[in-house]
Amino acid sequence: MFLASLLFLAAAPSYQTDIQPLLQKHCTGCHQPASKAAGLDLSTHADATKGGRLGAAWIAGQPEDSIVVQYLVAAKQPRMPLGRPSLSEPEINLFREWIRAGAKDDTAAVAEVNKPTVYLQPPVINSLRFSPDGKHLAVSGNREILIHALDDKTPPLRLQGKAERILSLAYSKDGKLLIAGGGTPARFGEVQVWDPIAGKMLRNATLTSDTVFGASLAPDSSRIAVGAADNTVHVFDTASAKELYKIGNHEDWVLSTIFGVDSKRFVSISRDRSAKINDAASGAFLENANQLKTELYAVARHPAKDIIVIGGEDRYPYVYLLDRARSMKIADDSTLVRRIERQDGPITALDWSADAKLIAIGGGSPTVTLYDAETGKLAARCSGHSAGIYTVAFSPDSKTLATGGFDGKVRLYSTRDGSLIREFIPVPLAGAK
Ligand code: HEC
Repeated sequence: MFLASLLFLAAAPSYQTDIQPLLQKHCTGCHQPASKAAGLDLSTHADATKGGRLGAAWIAGQPEDSIVVQYLVAAKQPRMPLGRPSLSEPEINLFREWIRAGAKDDTAAVAEVNKPTVYLQPPVINSLRFSPDGKHLAVSGNREILIHALDDKTPPLRLQGKAERILSLAYSKDGKLLIAGGGTPARFGEVQVWDPIAGKMLRNATLTSDTVFGASLAPDSSRIAVGAADNTVHVFDTASAKELYKIGNHEDWVLSTIFGVDSKRFVSISRDRSAKINDAASGAFLENANQLKTELYAVARHPAKDIIVIGGEDRYPYVYLLDRARSMKIADDSTLVRRIERQDGPITALDWSADAKLIAIGGGSPTVTLYDAETGKLAARCSGHSAGIYTVAFSPDSKTLATGGFDGKVRLYSTRDGSLIREFIPVPLAGAK
């Protein structure tokens, strides 16, 4: 009782900062739009309030009568989370206190008081992408995406979200949507859909209990694919941010995805060494694009053809056709177009230029390399970074390559000879003028 009254004096728990993270960590694996155990979706406040088989998950003001508490304390069986250790007493008490205080959804209020991130040092750059008109560069930051205008010195537009890490970015062809994938480590993964011009988040979806990787957008913008550390691939409807299906045919982390030219197929690549071709409408597995050789980290596609370049641990970039000329035989590698020369480190970033002529490769080595996509010959080296590379992106006119990684600086290179055009820290640093 003493503890309960002490808790009562403290501010009531918050849905966004206390309750939702617990639901995401322990419950939404089974209670979410794509798989609603007992008809119950716990992924949003509204869906949980609507409830499932037995009605609303909680009744404001009445913790002991709320089924979520009853299932957590095993007053109703089977105890939740099903088949896993029960939540701790303090965690269950957070549910009790929050329900007692009215079970309010404070998501919007918390977002409003969220202050922009303050940076004491440049954060690692996980992803960057040019807008389709070439005028802007979207760069990942901490809890935000920064949109830099490339032709003037106006401060970047800052798109602030909930996920601590943004790991992948993709623009729609018309530049009206910006997709981000990421999340907060060991808490939740998130897919965000932004209007990058207005700087407004249009929709988002949370999934799994860890950050998600390699979000990609179909060329027709209909779908978003994303990989996860629980070996799954999730596909979302872009217009609603509803999950359409998830695939579980990989045996290790799925680190990157890319759609085919006609948006009807997509490739998911994994540390399990496979590049799997999947049907985008149903998620059905079609076949492996590659012969399994190495843990795969990155993928990029030819701008106009269903040809991909993949790379990973063994440092070789492999160029593969998604379609084979003849039917497959065991251990057939007939779709391999080319193996490019071995790089100085594992490959973590790839891009293919819009004019189809160049492939950019980044990874463990601080030097980014450019290869002639037709011949596989080295075209240029881009040096200047002091540590590993996590992302490379060609400008829409193919004349510039943007790169970023561990050292926290964006660098822009001329693709003609690999010369450095400009470098900058993409975030405002505390104490700097
Ligand atoms: C591994 C899957 C799984 C996880 C994880 C899980 N649940 Fe469940 N949940 C179920 C299944 C299955 C049922 C139906 C159980 C039955 O009655 O047979 C259920 C039923 C429920 C019900 C009853 C809903 C109704 O209307 O009948 C509640 C409430 C509930 N879960 C809450 C939670 C909470 C809260 C968590 C996280 C702390 C959680 N669950 C985690 C699978 C899961």
